[in-house]
Amino acid sequence: MPVSRRSAGSRLKSARKKVRGTLWIKVDSERPQTDIIRIAAETIRKGGLVAFPTETVYGLGADALNPTAVAKIFTAKERPADNPIIVHVATKKDVYKLANDVPDVAEKLMTEFWPGPLTLILRRSSLVPDITVVGLDTIGIRMPSNKVALALIRESSVPIAAPSANLAGRPSPTTAQHVIEDLAGRIDVVLDAGPTSIGVESTVIDMTSSTPQILRPGGTPYEKLKSFLGEVELHPIAAANRRVGVLRARSPGMKHRHYAPRAEMIVVEGELDRIVGRIRQFTALYMAEGKKVGILATDESLSSYDADVVKALGSRNDAAGIAANLFRLLRELDKEKVDVIIAEGIAPQGLGLAVMNRLRIAANFNIIKV
Ligand code: TXA
Ligand code: MG
Repeated sequence: MPVSRRSAGSRLKSARKKVRGTLWIKVDSERPQTDIIRIAAETIRKGGLVAFPTETVYGLGADALNPTAVAKIFTAKERPADNPIIVHVATKKDVYKLANDVPDVAEKLMTEFWPGPLTLILRRSSLVPDITVVGLDTIGIRMPSNKVALALIRESSVPIAAPSANLAGRPSPTTAQHVIEDLAGRIDVVLDAGPTSIGVESTVIDMTSSTPQILRPGGTPYEKLKSFLGEVELHPIAAANRRVGVLRARSPGMKHRHYAPRAEMIVVEGELDRIVGRIRQFTALYMAEGKKVGILATDESLSSYDADVVKALGSRNDAAGIAANLFRLLRELDKEKVDVIIAEGIAPQGLGLAVMNRLRIAANFNIIKV
């Protein structure tokens, strides 16, 4: 039967299926269907877990004010118990319920950058359950711009606690398929609105210190925050190109292994000709040892390599394009069962800073400068 002749009922059925008990529902990214959002919101209100798209990565959501529901997030993800969860809101009013002593400059950031990929660390209020912020006196809050995310938060009428919807330590999910790979059977629902647009997580900025400090570079570039705020610090760990002591970790998440593919990984940074030369050398050495080698290359140098698997990150002049591809490619390389991943570094500017932060962490700071 031609697709156009199929009944509404069969179209609906083809748009939802169960995978190991997890309901996987397609939803329109521009005009999220009310009936679908209602199913997901009902699940949130009942204390269940719903994975949903944001503009950065897919999040694993629960009612932020329900400690039992938030506890399920930690179990489903196998998340370390000392890593606080970002709370997502659809209205600025909620910020003033969840946080105390919100500085004027934080209010200005919300007006300028929300909805969008910026998480503000503020003083928490007593409304927030301990487990959501793992007992800290601060809370991370953001208003996502994704229409499905906003509709879900509004319809749930509670703030939604949501870390990235991956198993702890794995690359963040940029598609519903990635969420299913990691969490099918562990969560109630995943709303599928296609691939996320930004592809790396939000920028986390601490507004409780005298000078705002970026704890994690992300979807909102450092340069934009700098020109808006005048003064902003980059936490040493956020900019690190080598391992930094965990005692200096302001954001508990900083000290855990992240974005990690199963293969050993190396990042080669420097001038492009030298990067290419060094990666070709490494490739030959590893292949001589009988190892399967995967390369993450930019478009400009893609054809220079002769490895088992070569993946295109995008143009080195388009960090945003690379950000959108990065986590998917790390997962694809895992599927190819490569033994070693060698990645080209790019300039740490704009979204390039977030890209390099994720690459370096994924490589466990196995960095070669050429
Ligand atoms: O784009 C994003 O931020 C995505 C989407 C789903 O919104 N979420 C996300 O969450 O990346 P997660 O849990 O994977 O990363 C949150 C980061 C962690 O490094 C955590 O330690 C930090 O934010 N964080 C959360 N609350 C904090 C707090 N109160 N103080 C310091 N760091 C905090
Ligand atoms: Mg995460």
